[in-house]
Amino acid sequence: MSQQTKRVLVTGATGFTGGALAKKLIERGDKVVALVRKSANVKPLEALGAELVYGDITDADAVQRAAQGTQIIYHIAAVYRTAGHPDSYYEEVNIQGVQHVIDAARKHGVGRTVHCSTIGVHGDIEEIPSNEESPFNPGDIYQRTKLAGEQLFAEAMANGLPGAIFRPGAIYGPGDLRLLKMFKQVKRGFFPLFGGGKNLYHLSYIDDLTDGIILCGEHPNAIGERFILCSNEYDTLKALTATIARQLQVKEPTLSLPVAPLMVAAKMCEALCKPFGIDPPLHTRRVEFFVKSRAFDNSKARRLLGYEPKIGTDEGVKRTIAWYEENDLL
Ligand SMILES: NC(=O)c1ccc[n+]([C@@H]2O[C@H](COP(=O)([O-])OP(=O)(O)OC[C@H]3O[C@@H](n4cnc5c(N)ncnc54)[C@H](OP(=O)(O)O)[C@@H]3O)[C@@H](O)[C@H]2O)c1
Repeated sequence: MSQQTKRVLVTGATGFTGGALAKKLIERGDKVVALVRKSANVKPLEALGAELVYGDITDADAVQRAAQGTQIIYHIAAVYRTAGHPDSYYEEVNIQGVQHVIDAARKHGVGRTVHCSTIGVHGDIEEIPSNEESPFNPGDIYQRTKLAGEQLFAEAMANGLPGAIFRPGAIYGPGDLRLLKMFKQVKRGFFPLFGGGKNLYHLSYIDDLTDGIILCGEHPNAIGERFILCSNEYDTLKALTATIARQLQVKEPTLSLPVAPLMVAAKMCEALCKPFGIDPPLHTRRVEFFVKSRAFDNSKARRLLGYEPKIGTDEGVKRTIAWYEENDLL
């Protein structure tokens, strides 16, 4: 990996993954420009010395301003964690936002643009493990718009845009709040495994992932390619909760409940909340967590990029718990 200072744009740098990536890039000497919204907490980025450009990914001019003079763009921003939006908002951010990034990269002749997709574009996999060439099967508006954004980006690469696409698994590690609820419930001794927790779950540890993202931004072999950037191992959701319990030194979850009534409740919640723009307390993607299997082969990234995930699930869970405890979250 080259140690020359570069000026790079990171979108989504106020979020978990983009924030960790921006930090790593700055620490290794790169100059990071972050496209940020006025409503976001920019203190960590300011403290790191990132250059802030205020604007929204849905605003083509703002993206153009942010991309000016950069050599690499890491496009990480997406609407993801919140579920109370109309479908059109997912389209604006996860599809049109990608077009704005492509246009800005072309206009400013950016040397490399890296697009963040998700293994979720494959939906509930049939082939174990799946890989970059496995069929797409997105299951909800988030996954459908992420797939459409990825395809838009792939088309741009086919038409000469120097870039790469990566698909992470469930991203976790210090700084993540999405899996906190599961850790809390396991600690409290009440984490019902809807459907028995038999589905396969594939994680991406944040520090390994950001290494992989930078390889996508810098390795010559990455150009024009799509990569799965998951950990080396996957296991059932039940096994993951057992690992969390072991690291917390509590009893592992064993209560198994049927999933169908929960899915009905989630659909009702979504139908009631969405028209009012409220984030539903329970939504179908949360329930699918207990049902859909995700298990992938990361050997393409290992072979072409030298991607080398270092943190196994035991160690990753241990570090995540340590961060939750340090921050009084658990
Ligand atoms: N987390 C996972 O398990 C996972 C798994 C696979 C793929 N991914 C993908 O990984 C990426 C990062 O995920 P994450 O979990 O780190 O997300 P996150 O913590 O929710 O961060 C999302 C980032 O996107 C920004 N953003 C959202 N809408 C925007 C808009 N309209 N204009 C500008 N910025 C906007 C957010 O800014 P604000 O701070 O202003 O909200 C935030 O910085 C996403 O592309 C996601 O699809 C995530």
